[in-house]
Amino acid sequence: MWTKENIPDLTGKTALVTGGNTGIGYETVIALYEKGANVTLAARDEKKAKAAVEKIKSETRSTGILEIGIVNLASLAQTKTFADEFKSKHTQLDILINNAGVMIPPASKTDDGFELQFGVNFLGHFALTGHLFPLLKNSPDARVVTLSSGAATLTDGIDFENLKLEKPYNEWQSYAVSKLADILFTYELDRKIKSVGLNILSVAAHPGVTRTDLQRHIPGEQLEGMFSEFDEVMQPWQGALPSLFAATDASVKGGEFFGPDGEKEFSGYPALSKHSTPTMTDKELAKKLWRYAEDVTLVDFHFK
Ligand SMILES: NC(=O)c1ccc[n+]([C@@H]2O[C@H](COP(=O)([O-])OP(=O)(O)OC[C@H]3O[C@@H](n4cnc5c(N)ncnc54)[C@H](OP(=O)(O)O)[C@@H]3O)[C@@H](O)[C@H]2O)c1
Repeated sequence: MWTKENIPDLTGKTALVTGGNTGIGYETVIALYEKGANVTLAARDEKKAKAAVEKIKSETRSTGILEIGIVNLASLAQTKTFADEFKSKHTQLDILINNAGVMIPPASKTDDGFELQFGVNFLGHFALTGHLFPLLKNSPDARVVTLSSGAATLTDGIDFENLKLEKPYNEWQSYAVSKLADILFTYELDRKIKSVGLNILSVAAHPGVTRTDLQRHIPGEQLEGMFSEFDEVMQPWQGALPSLFAATDASVKGGEFFGPDGEKEFSGYPALSKHSTPTMTDKELAKKLWRYAEDVTLVDFHFK
C-alpha cells in the first residue's frame, strides 16, 4: 500500500500544482511541501489561495518554500501572464501537476470562447505546460502529471465542431471529452518527448471517486444518491495519492496512467490504471488534438 509517507525527499525540487486551493490539489500541495519541495499553489482566486497557504503553513512542518500563483485557466492571456511571471522567478520546474478542473457547470465559455470544461481542463493546461516547457527542459528529471478521469472512457471521440458550444450542451459528454483530451495530451506529450530524447516524464493520474468541490454542480440529494452506489467515496488526501505517486515514485515511466487499485478503480491506493479504450490510445486523434490546440492557443513547445 503506497501512501504519501513513501514520497522521497524533495528538497530543492520546484513544484507547481494548479487548483491547489482545495480538494485533491490542496492535498497534493501539502504532501509535496511536507517532503521539502518548493511548491507554488496555483489558484484562480487570490483570497482562496492565501487562505489555503496560511492554513498549510500553520499546520505543516517543512523545510521547503510555499508560494501562491494566481492563474485563471479559462483565459489564455492570463495563463500566459502567469507563466511569464513564474518564468521570471524560477529557472527550473521539476514537477508540474495539471490538476485544476471543473465538472458539469451550466453551459458557459472561457474568455476565448471555448466550452468551459474543454477550455479549463485541457486547453488551459496545454497552454500552461507549453509556456513552462523551457523550465521543464532545464530540470534534470522533470515530470508533468495531468489529471484525467475514468470519464475519459465514456466518449468515443472529440467533435471538433462542438468545442465552442456550437451544438446543444451535454454537460457530462463535455466533461468526458475534456478528460479524454487530457489523456490524449499526456500520451502525445510523452511520444514527442521521447522522439527528441528529453528527460521529462509525461504521465496521467485519476483519483477514482473522491468527495470534493468538483461535485458542486450536482444538487445535494442527487449527489448523495450517486455516492451511495459506491462502496467507498474517498477523501481528498487519498484521492491525491495517484497524482503523488505519478509525480514522485522512482518506478514511474513516461506514458503511464495511475489510479486507485480497487475494483473498477473507484477507490484504493495507487496502481497502474487499466482504463483504456481505442479512443484514448488513438495516435491520430492525439495528433489532431495537438495541432488544434497549437493553432488555437498559439503555443509552441519548442521540443528541439
Ligand atoms: N473528485 C473526483 O472524484 C475526481 C474524479 C476524476 C477526476 N478528477 C479530477 O481531479 C482534479 C481535481 O479535482 P477535485 O476533485 O480536487 O476538484 P475541486 O475540489 O473542485 O478542485 C478543482 C480546482 O480547480 C480549480 N479551478 C476551477 N476552474 C479553474 C480555472 N478556470 N482556473 C484555475 N483553476 C480553476 C478550482 O478553483 P476554485 O476553488 O476557485 O473553484 C479548484 O482549486 C480535476 O482535474 C478533476 O477533473 C476528480
